[in-house]
Amino acid sequence: MRDSVGAVARKQLPLRPAGPDTVAALLDWYDRERRDLPWRMRRGRRADPYKVWLSEIMLQQTTVKAVIPFYEKFLLRWPTVEALAAADLDDVLAAWAGLGYYSRARNLHKCAQVVVAEHGGRFPRTEAELGTLPGIGPYTAAAVAAIAFGEAATPVDGNIERVVSRLFAVRRPLPAAKREIKRLAESLTPQRRAGDFAQAMMDLGATVCSPKRPSCLVCPLQQDCHAHALGIEAQLPVKLARAERPVRFGTAFLALREDGHVLVRKRREAGLLGGMLEIPSTDWGDDWLQADLALVQQPVRADWWAVPGVVSHTFTHFRLELQLFRAIVPVDTSMTFWASPERCRWVPRHELSNAALPSVMKKAIAHALREH
Ligand code: ADE
Ligand code: SF4
Repeated sequence: MRDSVGAVARKQLPLRPAGPDTVAALLDWYDRERRDLPWRMRRGRRADPYKVWLSEIMLQQTTVKAVIPFYEKFLLRWPTVEALAAADLDDVLAAWAGLGYYSRARNLHKCAQVVVAEHGGRFPRTEAELGTLPGIGPYTAAAVAAIAFGEAATPVDGNIERVVSRLFAVRRPLPAAKREIKRLAESLTPQRRAGDFAQAMMDLGATVCSPKRPSCLVCPLQQDCHAHALGIEAQLPVKLARAERPVRFGTAFLALREDGHVLVRKRREAGLLGGMLEIPSTDWGDDWLQADLALVQQPVRADWWAVPGVVSHTFTHFRLELQLFRAIVPVDTSMTFWASPERCRWVPRHELSNAALPSVMKKAIAHALREH
């Protein structure tokens, strides 16, 4: 079709904006294709709130694949919210080691205790009440309310954000577009099956509407998708370029006792990796300390050897570069402690894998123990 100046009209947008038919098509797709995940019940059965909550806390910032073994381990060890509330925080932190964002584990434990002490061991059933519990933010409150209790609440995670921004061709960049995307997602949320709707959007985003090359040809929403009609799906959502992560530098000490024990220290409760174990390290600063200054902070007096190479680890807000020193020390170290040994203990090497060591420390220990 030509307009008055003779330009060829572009392909028309779909006449139908996404609406109830889109949702029906999505739910049909979900009934056929949904992923079989351990916290999901069989079709039509309502999931256990404890399992839903535990999985949603773990799934924040972490992939489904990484979460599954941790989820199964937790559920075997603490099958109910009462069991988790009665657990020792150090055991919870140790079981969480490797999942990252350790404040989630502390809040998980605190939340279990509040649910038991103040709610008789039953999770509150509404998004509003769930949002008052420790560690439950707007996303998790909406996810648990929808999935476990069937409330028409709308969780919006990264997958849902991507699907919605494409369906409606939202061109405003993230994070400014978050409210608009949330509102559009709410406009689609059905009164019935809100939990299935949310999980269907998550599954679609994880499998079909993928970040780089969405598989629009097999997508149940293709007819209604504005980004697809415009051919801009791979460009959405637009994200403002993130500032580059700063780098911090530290020196860590691996003391290996002659009987195969490694010296570890419990970090202070406040701050990054709070309450987790580490091999003793200097503060992490803007530059490396000269070796002689770093060695002033050695945890035990010993002949320290510089381990060649560095260990690099990326946290949310910075990257850490750790230089390592290694020493072999005699079994009787009582006379050789340099700094006060508070918070320090010796752990047998073979037990390190079960200790509350964050990934960065597991990497550092493996690096320092490797033969160079
Ligand atoms: N990501 C976060 N929550 C999820 C869920 N319930 N199912 C699949 N992926 C998820
Ligand atoms: Fe995503 Fe393509 Fe489906 Fe649109 S048609 S929702 S871009 S997979």
